[in-house]
Amino acid sequence: MAQRKRVFSGLQPTGNVHVGNYLGALRNWVRLQDDYDCVYCIVDLHAITVEYDPADFARERREAAKVLIACGVDPDRSLFYYQSEVPQHTELAWILGTITGMGQLGRMTQYKDKSESAGANLGLFAYPVLMAADILLYRADAVPVGDDQKQHLELTRDLAVRFNARFGDEFPVPEPIIPEHGARVMSLQNPLAKMSKSDPDEGSRILVLDPPETIKAKVKRAVTDSGKGIRHDWESKPGISNLLEMMSLFTGTPIPDLEAEHGSSGYGAFKEAVAEAVIAGLAPIRAGYAALDDASVDEVMARGAATAREMAEPYQARVRRRIGLSR
Ligand code: TYM
Repeated sequence: MAQRKRVFSGLQPTGNVHVGNYLGALRNWVRLQDDYDCVYCIVDLHAITVEYDPADFARERREAAKVLIACGVDPDRSLFYYQSEVPQHTELAWILGTITGMGQLGRMTQYKDKSESAGANLGLFAYPVLMAADILLYRADAVPVGDDQKQHLELTRDLAVRFNARFGDEFPVPEPIIPEHGARVMSLQNPLAKMSKSDPDEGSRILVLDPPETIKAKVKRAVTDSGKGIRHDWESKPGISNLLEMMSLFTGTPIPDLEAEHGSSGYGAFKEAVAEAVIAGLAPIRAGYAALDDASVDEVMARGAATAREMAEPYQARVRRRIGLSR
């Protein structure tokens, strides 16, 4: 049997998982399990590059693991673990850091945005190098992500090419897998900005675990556009377009069909229909989450990390040999 291609992706555990994460990335993570050899990681070391509360962190990390399992990440089919429990990630990040230019890191938009609001630190600056290490450590062929990670993927590809040229062919150059729709779910409060975990306004995002009443209230409060009519048009109707895309992704109904059905509805009635679609789409995840218990999730994650360490070590030994670190 031909060897399956490998996929790697990661999610930061701080803040709760929102529908942007779900529609942009996690749905693909789940689908890809049918055809790829999948490695999925809760990237806790990435999350500590901004202000966080150590007292809450272990709980948040477990929550994230539970949400992902409830979304359909299957630890029996995919390798699933916490990044910090596999030290080869940080070792490879250090090595890749030695072939990364400061200029390229300084141009990363996520670094510019976050360092403005949270203050710069070396970890935040080097963040994309650790991300490249996550991916290259397992020789991943493809990386399912939302649109905002494109630039980091470009750096990862550059580093793979540069390492291979300098030390010999070691890393595949990974391809991004970005969905055609849902790759950039926008904030409910500002449809020109992406939905984000770090937005201080909780009304800007829908969490996958939000109860139905909360979803209804958030969609009702969503900023829409002046004028009327339900049309998909990012230029003049970004708020309605965002809701239409979300509804289409949750129901599987193409956007033109939704426009035909709701075209002449008022905003109020349309928003009610959007909320119902989101609630129905997230219901199985909420139910799956409620059925999981902490102790068995901890066990699953410990097993995942043990397997990941075993898998990462021979790869990392090859890198050490290539760069002249082993006898
Ligand atoms: P993170 O934790 O911010 O987000 C996890 C995934 O969700 C996607 N995403 C979105 N997609 C659509 N619309 C949105 N509004 C939206 N917001 C977030 C992200 O693109 C991502 O795919 N740097 C990464 C984590 C990471 C990683 C990796 C990813 C670390 N190492 C290696 C892939 C491979 C991040 O901060 O994702």
